Amino acid sequence: MKGWGVVLLVFTFCLPPVFFIAGCQEPPKTEAVRPVKIASGDVDPAHWGKAYPIEYERWKKTKEPDPAGSKYKRTFGPDRVIYDRLSEYPFSALLYNGWGFGVEYNEPRGHFYMIRDQLSVDPSRLKAGGVCLTCKTPYAPQFEKEMGHDYYSRPYKEIWENIPEKYRKLGVSCIDCHDNNDMTLRLSRGFTLVKALKDMGVQPEDLTHQQMRSMVCAQCHVTYVVTKDKDMKSTGVFFPWQGSKLGGITIENIIKKLRSDPSYLEWKQAVTGFKLAYIRHPEFELFSNNSVHWNAGVSCPDCHMPYVKVGTYKVSDHRVMSPLKNGLKACVQCHAESPDWLRRQVFNIQDRTASLLLRAGYETAVVAKLFETANNAQAAGKAVDKVMYDKAKDFYEEAFYRVVFIGAENSVGFHNPPEALRVLGDAVAFASRSEAILRNALARAGVDVPQNVDLDLNKYLDKRGEKKLKFIPAQEIKDPFGTQARFE
Ligand code: HEC
Ligand code: HEC
Ligand code: HEC
Ligand code: HEC
Repeated sequence: MKGWGVVLLVFTFCLPPVFFIAGCQEPPKTEAVRPVKIASGDVDPAHWGKAYPIEYERWKKTKEPDPAGSKYKRTFGPDRVIYDRLSEYPFSALLYNGWGFGVEYNEPRGHFYMIRDQLSVDPSRLKAGGVCLTCKTPYAPQFEKEMGHDYYSRPYKEIWENIPEKYRKLGVSCIDCHDNNDMTLRLSRGFTLVKALKDMGVQPEDLTHQQMRSMVCAQCHVTYVVTKDKDMKSTGVFFPWQGSKLGGITIENIIKKLRSDPSYLEWKQAVTGFKLAYIRHPEFELFSNNSVHWNAGVSCPDCHMPYVKVGTYKVSDHRVMSPLKNGLKACVQCHAESPDWLRRQVFNIQDRTASLLLRAGYETAVVAKLFETANNAQAAGKAVDKVMYDKAKDFYEEAFYRVVFIGAENSVGFHNPPEALRVLGDAVAFASRSEAILRNALARAGVDVPQNVDLDLNKYLDKRGEKKLKFIPAQEIKDPFGTQARFE
């Protein structure tokens, strides 16, 4: 257990007095409660649960509403409300206007819901096609292998219907993370994650045990690119990690990759008319980029799947959720401070991140509006300096991707506080530079620009039709495919 060795070393030598360590616990043993053999390729968690009933019961609990305790991640908490990210961060309704993310974009909830939430989300979010199932169903690797190009390009529903009826709503399952013979961790997403690791020169068999523990989550909690042909049909999916190294997948390298090929540009931003790429839930990227915890050898399950005692057994809690919602049980396995003190540290970090995210987001939205003005002026025959326009566009895109990166990352900065603030600080700087250049270009073209640019946010929020409600009670969300309601 090399990873724990690193953690222990850090504990022994490098800890300031505040981080007196209560003692990290021995991991549980992987013994079947009942000696039931699991067939190779068996996706059904109930079958695995015959041998490992405790993990199975905890896994099933991701269906239940989350307990209270979080400040920013309250979706499907005790009040069973789904929080709408576009309303929480209104500038993003303007920035994402032009495709599905600008219509409906909700905060995540338990693993049980991953397919169900896709089935009830606005259909515009599934336009990319079958490829949307890549981090949702255990059948994804098989489909990708058997169907090839069709898996990416055919409509979502058509591919989804190839899943045997009984498992059509089954999300992440034992087989996604475990070997059926000995329950060791395995990576099931060869066509995405393993390929991306190899692009960085990392062979999966060389990963430490602690790294493997994070890597099972990195099969999905990462950003990806859906490549497009010239008719905007999906042709493939990959993680933009080329040029980075494990432990340092930087936003700079990601942006460089995204901007290197027109087939990576997945959508057209309505307000500016620019074709852009996108960044999704980059939990692994932000966390593994030299964060204090990653460098100390801490892994995702250390915080999201803490060891719990169930009867005489000790298990990894397969009810994966925010550590703030189960009394910070995970944190106090390493930290001696009280849960309340630790929770305050998390909130402090998140408040600062949210504050700078709003500043960077609004500043970027202002620039987007100025591009709209510039485009209109050009259409009306005014000459806007091309060199200045292109420079402003360059800086604008740099700002935009940074805002999306931290906005899409689900910890509101906690996974890597200084890096989150650095990225947002750069976003503000790029957006401000862009605004200055663009204002100058507009002034030279004889276009009057008001000091305060009206973002017209209500228009963008209202354009979403029925999704415009601030907080959408889950029961009211319609299921476009006529499958079952959101709650069962
Ligand atoms: C097969 C893809 C996949 C894998 C593997 C995966 N996740 Fe998730 N995870 C998701 C999706 C999708 C959601 C959002 C589900 C929704 O909102 O319907 C999610 C949601 C979550 C949430 C929010 C839960 C809540 O109650 O709101 C946490 C925390 C989380 N994942 C952590 C992890 C950790 C830690 C790992 C590794 C042990 C992991 N995930 C592995 C896809 C995955
Ligand atoms: C040191 C502890 C720690 C580690 C390690 C860690 N996280 Fe988190 N994570 C948190 C905290 C704290 C939050 C914020 C939760 C909140 O605000 O309720 C969070 C939030 C999340 C969320 C959003 C949860 C929600 O309820 O919506 C996801 C998803 C997530 N983490 C996934 C991961 C993944 C994947 C990894 C590894 C790449 C990881 N985390 C590593 C502590 C950790
Ligand atoms: C998202 C990935 C993921 C999924 C899905 C998952 N596990 Fe695990 N599981 C883990 C991780 C991580 C560990 C810790 C393993 C380690 O440190 O070696 C673990 C550990 C275990 C262990 C060893 C004992 C323990 O509790 O630590 C058993 C048994 C187990 N899981 C059973 C299951 C069963 C049964 C299912 C399906 C119902 C399942 N797991 C689904 C990630 C997952
Ligand atoms: C597996 C052990 C482990 C777990 C679990 C863990 N931490 Fe840590 N944490 C560490 C170590 C080691 C450090 C580095 C201490 C240092 O060098 O200052 C650290 C540092 C921190 C810091 C200071 C970070 C900084 O940037 O200086 C905070 C705050 C913190 N942890 C909060 C938490 C919270 C909240 C949780 C639960 C969500 C948590 N930790 C879970 C081991 C852990």
